[in-house]
Amino acid sequence: MQKLIVTMTFTAAFAFAQTATADKIEIDDLKAKQGELAAKLPAAAKKTVSYKKDIKPLFDKSCLNCHGPKKRPKGKFRIDTRELALKGGSEGVSIVPGKSDKSALINYIAYQVVDFEMPPEGKKDYPKLTKDQVGLVRAWIDQGAKFDN
Ligand code: HEC
Repeated sequence: MQKLIVTMTFTAAFAFAQTATADKIEIDDLKAKQGELAAKLPAAAKKTVSYKKDIKPLFDKSCLNCHGPKKRPKGKFRIDTRELALKGGSEGVSIVPGKSDKSALINYIAYQVVDFEMPPEGKKDYPKLTKDQVGLVRAWIDQGAKFDN
């Protein structure tokens, strides 16, 4: 009986671990699966977004230390100027102005891509964005990913 319980516990834990990651995809599959992923993204905020008021504070807190001018930027990606942000990083362009559903950065901040959860999982100094905040970043990209408003 004890053995059965142990086996059942392991099976349940394994099944749970699988469902916990089941929704995430591998980076190599992103291009092919971006359409499916779009359906699961938080909706874009329905307001005119200000970079300075709505977006910069989020990036400053959750991204800038790893993707700014201070040290060698992670993934060769910088988020502190429009030019650098649009240029992309090792994985190519991740912001497509006007198309948040085609912007890999949104898949990353929505924790949809394995090993590209941004900010990375377990980094308590860098808060994960809430659904509403992901929605704000989506609206920001949809409205042109401006840095001057
Ligand atoms: C603690 C450091 C850290 C923080 C904070 C962080 N990132 Fe990252 N980021 C990384 C690392 C490391 C990689 C490279 C991952 C890899 O190549 O496996 C990366 C990669 C990326 C990439 C892909 C770059 C490329 O082309 O390879 C983007 C886009 C990105 N991060 C955006 C963000 C955003 C947006 C935030 C804030 C919401 C953020 N990151 C916060 C460490 C961080």
